Parts: sequence; structure tokens; C-alpha cells
Amino acid sequence: MGELTPDKTPSRIAGMFDAIAPRYDLLNHLLSAGLDRRWRVKAVAALDLRGRACVLDLCTGTGDLAVTAARGRPGVSVIGVDFAGRMLALAHRKVAAARLNGVVRLVRGDATRIPLADASCDAATVGFGIRNVADPAAALAEIARVLRPGARLAVLEFGQPRIPGIRTLYAWYFKYLLPLVGRLVSRHGSAYSYLPASVGTFPPPAEFAHMVAATGFSQVRAVPLTFGIVYLYTAERL
Ligand SMILES: C[S@@+](CC[C@H](N)C(=O)[O-])C[C@H]1O[C@@H](n2cnc3c(N)ncnc32)[C@H](O)[C@@H]1O
Repeated sequence: MGELTPDKTPSRIAGMFDAIAPRYDLLNHLLSAGLDRRWRVKAVAALDLRGRACVLDLCTGTGDLAVTAARGRPGVSVIGVDFAGRMLALAHRKVAAARLNGVVRLVRGDATRIPLADASCDAATVGFGIRNVADPAAALAEIARVLRPGARLAVLEFGQPRIPGIRTLYAWYFKYLLPLVGRLVSRHGSAYSYLPASVGTFPPPAEFAHMVAATGFSQVRAVPLTFGIVYLYTAERL
């Protein structure tokens, strides 16, 4: 696409999310007009969780996806992993507020070295996180390692709308308005410019789906949500 790949050094990415952590949830809901909640519900529904399933939520951030997976599903437990301490601190508060202590556990760790045993999880989610990992294939291989055979994976990531008029309008919003609102509300100079830059350099859906298949998954699907603003990738561990 001719765009420069943004710097995804782990310390830089963790520092950026730590810096925007206090306004992260507010901006998520504001900038997506509340649609982010629906996208997470769809991702969790795709896992078809049953019984005493243990779910890995990689790049859990402030824990919204982890809580969505655990809430109203007795028996299901979640392990949220993230390397940004301040994001995790907010996740801890959210888990406590939802009375899910002991059901959702939060662990500090890197997506390319997940601190969990082989074949120890029954499902996995990654919400808007994989794009931030410098080596997404390494993170996918790690997810494959910790999942048992047959376990489901659901990944949410931003895409680009395919309908021409909507595509143009959204491109303007994403490139100009979103970074401006993000900068004003978060008071961080670059995090919300990094967002469109990182989406612009992320592999297109077919290419990312291929990457998922190449790291030990079958039945890979890329489902556009909200005109393709977001893609839900689903797959099954071989
Ligand atoms: C955009 S936030 C998404 C948070 C959450 N999943 C959600 O749906 O709102 C991305 C998160 O990924 C985390 N992250 C990025 N790269 C990571 C890595 N290599 N290892 C662990 N966490 C990472 C960041 O710290 C941040 O909390």
C-alpha cells in the first residue's frame, strides 16, 4: 500500500497503551458509536462456548472481551493476557465490578511468548490486538500452541469498507476526524494517528486468513462486520 509500517517495538506499543489507558474505553465507545460492544459479542458467539471451557483472551487490554466471554456463562473461565500494566489494572477493576474475580484471570505477558502451557485452552479471542504485534504470525503460532486440537479462535481486527461511497466517507473519518478526536480526548499526540497507520499496513483479509491457516488452523473464515469496518476471523485449531 506504499505506507510505512509503524514502529511496533514492544516497549513502544506497551507504553502507548499505558499512556492512553484511562481514556481507552471511552474513546472505543465514542469513536465506534458503541458498535465495539456488538463486535465483541459476535466474536464470543463464534466460539460457541460450552461447559467448563477455558478461554484465552490475548491482548486483553482493559478486559472488555474477557468479561463479555465470561458474563452469563457459568463454568466458563477466561485468562486475559496483555503486556501493558495500566491496561491490565483497568481490566482488574472491570472484572471486580462484574463480580468475575476468579473467573477472569489476568496475566501480564507478551503475545509472542504466551505464559501458558501447551494445549491448555479450549478457545481463544484477540480483539483489535493482533495488528499491534510486530510479528503476528509468531503470535498466531503461540495461540495455536496453547489451544487444544479442535478449539475455536475468533479474531477481531479493523478492515476497510468495500462499498465505494461508504469506503470514501469512512476513509476520511478514519484518517482525519478519528485522530483529531482521539488526540483531544486522550491527550496523546500520536496514538490515534498510529491507529489508521497500523490498519493501513495490516494484511488485507484474504492474506491474514492465509496467515491464520498457515499457523495451524483450519476452516478459516473472514466475516465483514459493519460494511467491513471490522473483520471477524474465525478458525479451528487443527
Ligand atoms: C487496541 S487494544 C485492544 C484491547 C482489547 N482486546 C479490546 O478489545 O478493547 C490492544 C491491546 O493489545 C496489547 N498488545 C499489543 N501488542 C501486544 C503484545 N505483543 N503482547 C501483549 N499484548 C499486546 C496492548 O497492550 C493493548 O492493550
